[in-house]
Amino acid sequence: MLAAMASRIAWAPGRVNLIGEHVDYAHGRALPLATSLGTSATFTNASGPLRVRSTLDGAQGTLGEPGPAWMAVVEAAAMATGTTEGRLDVDGDLPTGAGLSSSTSFSVAVVLALGGPLDHDRLIAEAWRCEQGLGTPTGLLDQQAIVAARPGMAVLADFADGSRRDVPLPSGLHLAVVHSGVERQLASSPYAQRRAQVEAAERLVGPLGRATLEQLSGIEDELVRRRARHVVAECARVDAAVEHLAAGELVEVGKLIDESHASLRDDFEVSLPEIDQLADELRGLPGSLGVRLMGGGFGGCLLAIGDRPLVVDPRLASWQVRPGAGAEVRGA
Ligand code: GLA
Repeated sequence: MLAAMASRIAWAPGRVNLIGEHVDYAHGRALPLATSLGTSATFTNASGPLRVRSTLDGAQGTLGEPGPAWMAVVEAAAMATGTTEGRLDVDGDLPTGAGLSSSTSFSVAVVLALGGPLDHDRLIAEAWRCEQGLGTPTGLLDQQAIVAARPGMAVLADFADGSRRDVPLPSGLHLAVVHSGVERQLASSPYAQRRAQVEAAERLVGPLGRATLEQLSGIEDELVRRRARHVVAECARVDAAVEHLAAGELVEVGKLIDESHASLRDDFEVSLPEIDQLADELRGLPGSLGVRLMGGGFGGCLLAIGDRPLVVDPRLASWQVRPGAGAEVRGA
């Protein structure tokens, strides 16, 4: 019987990013938080190569054999932790492909279930490394919240020095995440191209998270300059949002959220016409203070903030989000 006992159950939330989009790989600042929806991974001792089953997509895989794409994450986690035998069952209630960072939630849960580090900085680094096997050169935004968030708080993450601090969210702030209906896969989106443009700007003016708008006038390539302008302005909006949250000025936070959307649409060009239209509709809801595209873009979710729970058209998939806790090992 002993061999069939669950030896470790890990859970990891999804993430909502309040503000600070497409800045993590540019040494910027962002304000993500953890959702109460998440992914659980249960490791059970068993002999033979690690076998993994996921109810999220009904797929399964075995270490060392061809399998679903997410086996790349499992392989990396198994190698890193030395847990190469046993059984791993993955389950959860976080929607996939929606911009709620289901991939990072999966990676963190798997790394923890296989015996990965509990220390936050080490877990963030390890989960990020394992997720790179999925093929998108993502930054560390999602890991910061999924690993380190605390209930009722957002995480102010500074990607220039890897530091973070908790930012309490006013209880009167209501968050709704609304699916645009456009499925997106980061690996097939121009995410890597955007990142390359940002890196081109950084070669000219240094870390964008520390740059000023004035410095950007020296960038000759108009497209690269606009991409950089988004990053620099978005970081300033993050700083302003922290101030306004502390003062309970939710209307001001909402304006920053709307400005973030405009910048993602016009300067960073990661929105889509149907997302812009939905953003306008959500802005019209009673109590709505600000709406923006959230996550990598090209589909996925919008974030709407309000001074009361927002009543979203029931034909759209939507979630009312309370800022929750980061990942944990729940059973041993
Ligand atoms: C995705 C990536 C993050 C971040 C966002 C955009 O969610 O996983 O690292 O770059 O896009 O802010």
